[in-house]
Amino acid sequence: MTEIASPDTGSRSQAPREIIYRHRVVTRLTHWVNALCFTLLLMSGLQILNAHPALYWGQFGADDDHAFIEFFAARPDGRDGKLAGFTRIGPLTIETTGLFGVSNDSDGDVRVIAMPGWATIPANRDLATGRRWHFFFAWLFVINGLVYVAGSLINGHLRRDLLPERRELSPRHILHDIWNHVRLKLPKGDEAKRYNVLQKGAYLGVGVLLILMVMTGLTMSPGMNASAPWMLDLFGGRQSARTIHFLAASATVAFIVVHLAMVLLAGPINEIRSMITGRFVVPPEDKS
Ligand code: HEM
Repeated sequence: MTEIASPDTGSRSQAPREIIYRHRVVTRLTHWVNALCFTLLLMSGLQILNAHPALYWGQFGADDDHAFIEFFAARPDGRDGKLAGFTRIGPLTIETTGLFGVSNDSDGDVRVIAMPGWATIPANRDLATGRRWHFFFAWLFVINGLVYVAGSLINGHLRRDLLPERRELSPRHILHDIWNHVRLKLPKGDEAKRYNVLQKGAYLGVGVLLILMVMTGLTMSPGMNASAPWMLDLFGGRQSARTIHFLAASATVAFIVVHLAMVLLAGPINEIRSMITGRFVVPPEDKS
């Protein structure tokens, strides 16, 4: 990641810019295939969730069992019998009309459905098609993940760029990085040439979430239940696996929100160009 590709003097009025080769081709290719797969998996997964928008723990889950997360519609008092959407997480119920439980379709008509049409593939209620999309992109996602891990082991990216060094794990170093992030003081000069410890932690953490999603996804497959029953034991049953699958997907969405915010803050053109071409313009050190 730190190998210098070429100095670039830019226009006459600007100081010379330092350009490094930041991302190898295997990182770039698998990153964008991953982003595509994750988006389509999320949207088709929400379509599947619509078929039974309640999450349970253990082996069983049906209408009469206790769900600790659910999305539903009800007619609250004093609203002239109008439907409203709700999300319940444990004892906490919040109204989510317009988003979860009750939303409007593209014609403006009210729909009683857990996830809105714009967030699902396909947009209308269609479990069979949603599952086809989900399973196709799940396998592409797994193959792509294996290519990324193998490539990163072979070219040293995992060890060199992603695993934190011992000195980076000291509480002082971590607190310093957190403080810099809180102040939105992003790395410049030499520091910007490598991932900081929070970035490494986030990327390794999302890797764990993605592996967890694949494993819990496989645990929900009847074929896998027959050939690898230990997976059901590992996750405490199919409904627990389904719930962990949903929670890991939600945590990944939270990662993506922060990830995109950081890309915007760090300079979206330079950042995204580096993930497309590999070339990254090192932000110059402040002269103060
Ligand atoms: C349109 C959406 C996305 C954009 C614009 C984007 C952009 C970027 C950029 C610019 C980097 C390089 C950061 C740097 O050099 O400091 C990066 C790295 C990374 N992104 Fe994304 N990203 C997107 C979606 C995702 C998704 C969906 C995931 C995972 C679910 C993801 C996971 C990662 C990881 C793990 C890395 C580090 C890769 C490595 O060095 O091996 N990104 N992303």
